[in-house]
Amino acid sequence: MSLLRQPLLLLARSGGVKKVVETMPVSAGIVRSYVPGETTTDAVRAAGELVADGLHVTLDHLGEDTSDRGDAERTVEAYLDALTALGHAGLTHGAEVSVKLSAVGQYVGESGEQLALENARRICRAARNQGTTVTLDMEDHTTTDSTLGILRELRQDFPETGAVLQSYLRRTEEDCHQLAYEGSRVRLCKGAYAEPASVAFEERLEVDKSYVRCLKVLMSGQGYPMVASHDPRMVAIAGTLAARNGREPGSYEYQMLYGIRPEEQRRLAESGETVRVYVPYGSEWYGYLMRRLAERPQNLSFFLTSLISK
Ligand code: FDA
Repeated sequence: MSLLRQPLLLLARSGGVKKVVETMPVSAGIVRSYVPGETTTDAVRAAGELVADGLHVTLDHLGEDTSDRGDAERTVEAYLDALTALGHAGLTHGAEVSVKLSAVGQYVGESGEQLALENARRICRAARNQGTTVTLDMEDHTTTDSTLGILRELRQDFPETGAVLQSYLRRTEEDCHQLAYEGSRVRLCKGAYAEPASVAFEERLEVDKSYVRCLKVLMSGQGYPMVASHDPRMVAIAGTLAARNGREPGSYEYQMLYGIRPEEQRRLAESGETVRVYVPYGSEWYGYLMRRLAERPQNLSFFLTSLISK
């Protein structure tokens, strides 16, 4: 792993640095390359362009780690607004939403989990009314059990709700076995947070090997695997495993982030695969951007230039 990864991920959670950096407009070069804009209108416009290109979309209203009930409520309202706007734009056949439970109340006092569950339910209901779905993002390992617990509850009423699992966690292969059941939508990613060695693989090779083991479980299972990676080897292995397990395109999908490998997103879609692009939007882009920089520290000088020239 890059020497800069851990420090950048720690900075991702620094409130002080966040305050300074978020004064940079979303239009600043590096932010704009990962985030299409701040408003629902920006997000729906980006979704429309991607759908017109044959891609699918999942919208993420940026924000995380809130301990404030009012902030959690504003996030829920932003999602309800986005779902209505997607409906009006006729996009809900191709676009869903991704939700971080820490943005809708998971950390709000002792009853935070209950609040997050209720808020997630409201978003799932609105998504279903618009004919689309919700996927619960996965955050750092201290929230994994809580998030999977809330997912279980949600799936009783909304079985279409997607889960996310992270191959860098040692537990994830077992979680894949648990979640590889019929109808279960599971996004497999490598994982984007600073995690201790006690719970996570530290070497890139170990994370990749775990990713392949998890893919094998999901592709041979009964669920709907969502292969979230830009790594050409993981994409190729997923294709091979899908074919080996007799899966047709459409019985699994690829997912990539907005602005990362857009030519590959289009190439896969043109070859008949389902490809979904994760589109983050909003003013709370700091944590998201820092995690992307941690994955690609080469972009750091580009980021610093944007900051200085703001
Ligand atoms: P890897 O990091 O090895 O990158 C492979 C190649 O992709 C690189 O060589 C480069 O070409 C390109 N690339 C990767 N990152 C880049 C960047 N920032 N800028 C430019 N190029 C880049 N994580 C999490 O913990 N919880 C979650 O809920 C999600 N959700 C999620 C949804 C979707 C749709 C995706 C694609 C990813 C996530 N992630 C996530 C993030 C994920 O865990 C991981 O951090 C990133 O996808 C990077 O890992 P890769 O698998 O792409 O491989």
